[in-house]
Amino acid sequence: MRRLLVTGARGQLGQDVCRQATARGLEVSALDLPELDIASQEAVRACLQATRPEAILNCAAYNAVDRAETEFHQALAANALGPRNLAVEAERLGVPLMHLSTDYVFDGRATRPYTIADPPNPLGRYGLSKLRGELEVQALARRHYVVRLSWVFGAGNDNFARKVLGWARGRASIQVVDDQVACPAYTADLAPALLELLGSGAFGLYHLANQGHCSRHAWAAHIVGAAGLGVEVVPVSSRAFPTPAARPAFSALDTFPLDGILGRPLPPWQDATERFLREIGART
Ligand SMILES: NC(=O)c1ccc[n+]([C@@H]2O[C@H](COP(=O)([O-])OP(=O)(O)OC[C@H]3O[C@@H](n4cnc5c(N)ncnc54)[C@H](OP(=O)(O)O)[C@@H]3O)[C@@H](O)[C@H]2O)c1
Repeated sequence: MRRLLVTGARGQLGQDVCRQATARGLEVSALDLPELDIASQEAVRACLQATRPEAILNCAAYNAVDRAETEFHQALAANALGPRNLAVEAERLGVPLMHLSTDYVFDGRATRPYTIADPPNPLGRYGLSKLRGELEVQALARRHYVVRLSWVFGAGNDNFARKVLGWARGRASIQVVDDQVACPAYTADLAPALLELLGSGAFGLYHLANQGHCSRHAWAAHIVGAAGLGVEVVPVSSRAFPTPAARPAFSALDTFPLDGILGRPLPPWQDATERFLREIGART
């Protein structure tokens, strides 16, 4: 594989994927809105004919979990029609397509991390749109990798970790929910793992995140502590911050069998969080 097309290339994961792929000597076509709207079948077809990629990595997504409740068509356009268009064209060209999904396809009622064999049952319309995208890719592209991620954070865009730093600025204490548990996933760790998987030929469904899981409260407390901010992080119930979309209470991902294919799990979430804080200059 020499020529890689990355869609959603200016998102937080897209930026790290492009950086890592370029560092590995790949010729990267890095596209995002407005130059490529993956929801447009004509645009996707024209783009693939022009760039002739040998693999496609789709980092584009509509990730506004709450807005998706009222903007379902927009969510479906990016998260279901987009991957469908990429799958059809990947199949036409006979090249592999890697598509990314989410832990929010699960309802969060599990008592152990979700495996790739557990049945999805999204609570909200964002998760529903992402599940539809998974199904389109699986049905339409033979050479597909569908990789579910959770709580993605990286230097390139806004995310929960950056929000925590913003909330903590100038405050003695902040409140963070302790009844949502999942796995933080650092884009600098995800990107090399995804590129390795893309070159493996081991097509299929996977889960990927940093090792371990935690509540949003535990993650926020670690962020605040590691950044050296003297701020108290108070645990509260999600009922304290009502949102239009329900979130799964427990959506940690079991990363079997990807750990084995990669030969290692990703580093623990605490270590990833500390490297992220260093990357953005919030920790020395
Ligand atoms: N963020 C999370 O916590 C999280 C958790 C689990 C899974 N994931 C999944 O992980 C993947 C990467 O997420 P991320 O956090 O890196 O996303 P991100 O930062 O939101 O980046 C997504 C990019 O896709 C672009 N985009 C949106 N609609 C598009 C369209 N129709 N055509 C082309 N590009 C479009 C966005 O542009 P605009 O900014 O202009 O809209 C943005 O640049 C996604 O599949 C996401 O669903 C994310």
